[in-house]
Amino acid sequence: TRTPVNVTVTGAAGQIGYALLFRIASGHLLGPDVPVNLRLLEIPQGLKAAEGTAMELDDCAFPLLRNIEITDDANVGFAGANVALLVGARPRTKGMERGDLLSANGGIFKPQGKAINDNAADDIKVLVVGNPANTNALIAQAAAPDVPAERFTAMTRLDHNRAISQLAAKTGAAVSDIRKLTIWGNHSATQYPDIFHAEIAGKNAAELVNDEAWLADTFIPTVAKRGAAIIEARGASSAASAANAAIDHVYTWVNGTAAGDWTSMGIPSDGSYGVPEGLISSFPVTTKDGKYEIVQGLDINEFSRARIDASVQELTEERDAVRELGLI
Ligand code: NAI
Repeated sequence: TRTPVNVTVTGAAGQIGYALLFRIASGHLLGPDVPVNLRLLEIPQGLKAAEGTAMELDDCAFPLLRNIEITDDANVGFAGANVALLVGARPRTKGMERGDLLSANGGIFKPQGKAINDNAADDIKVLVVGNPANTNALIAQAAAPDVPAERFTAMTRLDHNRAISQLAAKTGAAVSDIRKLTIWGNHSATQYPDIFHAEIAGKNAAELVNDEAWLADTFIPTVAKRGAAIIEARGASSAASAANAAIDHVYTWVNGTAAGDWTSMGIPSDGSYGVPEGLISSFPVTTKDGKYEIVQGLDINEFSRARIDASVQELTEERDAVRELGLI
C-alpha cells in the first residue's frame, strides 16, 4: 500500500474549501489509488467551521482519507506537506487600493511561504488560488528560498476551462475535442485566452472561428470577466468551478498532460516569450512525471503579442509594488 500524501488546504472553512476538500478526499486530486492526509489551515475564527467540515468528511467514510488535522498554526499546517493549496486570502473590499490589497495578502502569504520553507516535505508542490493569485505566489516563493522556485504556481486553470467551454459553445464542438488552448499572463481581467494555437478535432480553432471581432469583443471579455458575471448571477463568487480547477491543476501537474495537448499554469517565467524572468505568469505547459515545461516555439501574432504584453505589464507593476512594500 502507498504512503499517504499530505495535502494542506488553507482557507479550508471557506466556500472553495467546502467544494474542494471532498474531492481531494475522494481521490480526484492525485488519483484513485493515492491515500491522503488532510491538513486544514484556518484563522482562529475559521476553526470551528473547519471542524464541522471535517465531521462531514468523516461521515463520507472515504476509503482514501487517512487523517485530518485542523490548525491555525502554519508551522503545524504545512508540516510534511507534499501538496499545498493556498486558498485563504484577503479579498478586496470596497475602497481598498491595490497597495492595501497587496500588503494585506503579503501578511498572509509571506509567513505561509516561510512556514512551507521550514516545514514542508522536500517534494512540496504549491498551488496559489487566493487572489491576487500570481503575485501572492510570488510573495510566498520569495519567503521560501530553500524550496525550488518552480514549485510555486498560481491558478489560471479556471480561466483555461472557461475558455474551452466558451469555444465549445461557439463552435458546437465537444469540450473533449478542444486542445492546446492557452491562458497567458495574470489571473485578472488582463489575462489573454489564446485560441490561435488551439485545435478543434485537429483543425486550427482560430481558422474555424474566423471571426476576430468575436474574439476581441465577446470571447476574451467573457472569459476574463466571468468571475464578475458569476458573482452577479449567484450572489457569491465562483466556488465549485474554482475548486474543480484547483483539482485539475494539481492532477495534471502530478499525472501529466495528454499527448498532443497542453494546459495553462501560472509559473515562474524563465524569460520565454518575452515574459521577464521570475514573474509568475500563465503559460502553455506540458507536464510529465510531476514536472512541467513551457511549450516552446509558438508563433505569436500581433493580436496576441499586444495582449500578452499588457497582462505581463500588470504583473510587472504588481511585482514592483510588493517589492516596494518589502514583501519580496
Ligand atoms: P471565502 O471567503 O469563502 O473563504 C476564505 C477562507 O480563508 C475563510 O474561511 C477565511 O477564514 C480563510 N482565511 C483567511 N485568511 C487566512 C489565513 N491567513 N490562513 C488560513 N485561512 C485563512 O473565499 P473563497 O470563495 O473560498 O475564495 C478564496 C480565494 O480564492 C479568494 O481570494 C478568491 O478571490 C480566490 N479565487 C481564485 C480563483 C482563481 O481562479 N485563481 C477563482 C475563484 C476564487
